[in-house]
Formats: sequence, structure tokens, C-alpha cells
Amino acid sequence: MGKVRRDAEQRKDVFYRLAKKYGYRSRAAFKLLQINAKFRVIQRGDVVIDLGAAPGGWLQVAKELSGGVVIGVDLQPIAKIEGVETLRCDITSEDAPEKIKEVLRKFSCERADVVLSDASPNISGVWSYDHFRSYELCEAALKIATTLLKSGGNFVTKIFQGESFKDFYEEVRRKFTFAKAYSPQASRKRSAEIYIVGKGFKPE
Ligand SMILES: C[S@@+](CC[C@H](N)C(=O)[O-])C[C@H]1O[C@@H](n2cnc3c(N)ncnc32)[C@H](O)[C@@H]1O
Repeated sequence: MGKVRRDAEQRKDVFYRLAKKYGYRSRAAFKLLQINAKFRVIQRGDVVIDLGAAPGGWLQVAKELSGGVVIGVDLQPIAKIEGVETLRCDITSEDAPEKIKEVLRKFSCERADVVLSDASPNISGVWSYDHFRSYELCEAALKIATTLLKSGGNFVTKIFQGESFKDFYEEVRRKFTFAKAYSPQASRKRSAEIYIVGKGFKPE
């Protein structure tokens, strides 16, 4: 899509305008608000890890909802948000769980109540390739979640729909007492993205 068309589309988009109005860094903030309104994944006082967090809309929402320790992780730097800790790291790297654990320990925490991931690959436009890259990010997010979540903790991840969706969903279903796929109203209609919510982590 050309830049002029994209800019025009953004100006018309209700969530884009609402994000500007309420001071959120991205329209994606409304996706997390809608997911939380439906599934109550974040409670007051929760320790929250947000993967693929830049520019920080979800971090702003997570901080408002929890008021507790909130850690954002991304390949890109994230401009300062009051009360939010950030880490520049590739979530698919072998040592990502350990690096995040080190940040948790700064707050005397061993584990988190909630792991979120809105991580996206750069979109190529080739549906199956983008799905595969998104699936890799989901697997990385689930590995971090299963390493760092408390028993009973909650998980949310974005995935682009495609052939591995069902397998990944089943994997989440096995590890959590509750699992559901959900498309918030703020997701664009033409987008392949959907969110998988897992509640009640069951450590092995
Ligand atoms: C759609 S944006 C996230 C928007 C964010 N939830 C918000 O509300 O502002 C997706 C992010 O995933 C990040 N990302 C993609 N691959 C990653 C990886 N391997 N490790 C860490 N972050 C990654 C990108 O840098 C990008 O900032």
C-alpha cells in the first residue's frame, strides 16, 4: 500500500484517532484493552512481561491495568514510559528467557503473572511466509511464557492465521486450563492476525 493511501486510511481509522486522543503510542493499545475486557488476563498488581512491545501502546495499557512491575522486550528501543522497564533483545534468541529473568530479579521477582506477545515479523505480503515467521515468534513467546510464568499465570499471543495455527493452538490448550482464539474489534478487517489467549498455566 502506498504511503499517501496509508496516511489517508490512518486518519479515517477510529482506533488511530482514539489512540491520539488518549495519548497511547499505538492503536494496538485498544486491542489489549478489548482482550482484557473479555478475558481479564491482567489483574491489579500483576507482574507483566510484554514481548514485541515497541513502540509501547500495550505497555501503557499493561501499566494502567496492573500498576505493578511491567517489562517490555523488543528488537527496537522503546522510549521511556514511567514505571516500565525495557529490554532490547531478540525473543527468538536462546538466552532471551535468562535475560528477561535477570530483569525480573531486579524487582525481586522470580516469575511473572502474565506474558503478552504482540510481536510481528516484517510483513512480506506472502501469506504463507508471513504466517511461518509469525509462528516462529509465537513459539518463542510460548517458550518464554512456560519458562517464566507462575503456575496459574496467563498468556496472550498474536498469530497470523495459516497452516500451523491449529497445532499452535493445541499446544497452548495443553499447557493452560483455558484457551481461546479471539479477534478484537480493533484488529483491521483485512488483517490475518488473531490472538490466542491461554489462562491458568499448568507447569509440567
Ligand atoms: C505490532 S508491533 C507491537 C506493537 C505494540 N504491541 C504496541 O502496542 O505498541 C510488533 C513488534 O514486534 C517486534 N519484534 C519482531 N520480531 C521480534 C523479535 N524477534 N524479538 C523482539 N521483538 C520483535 C518488532 O520490532 C515490533 O516492534
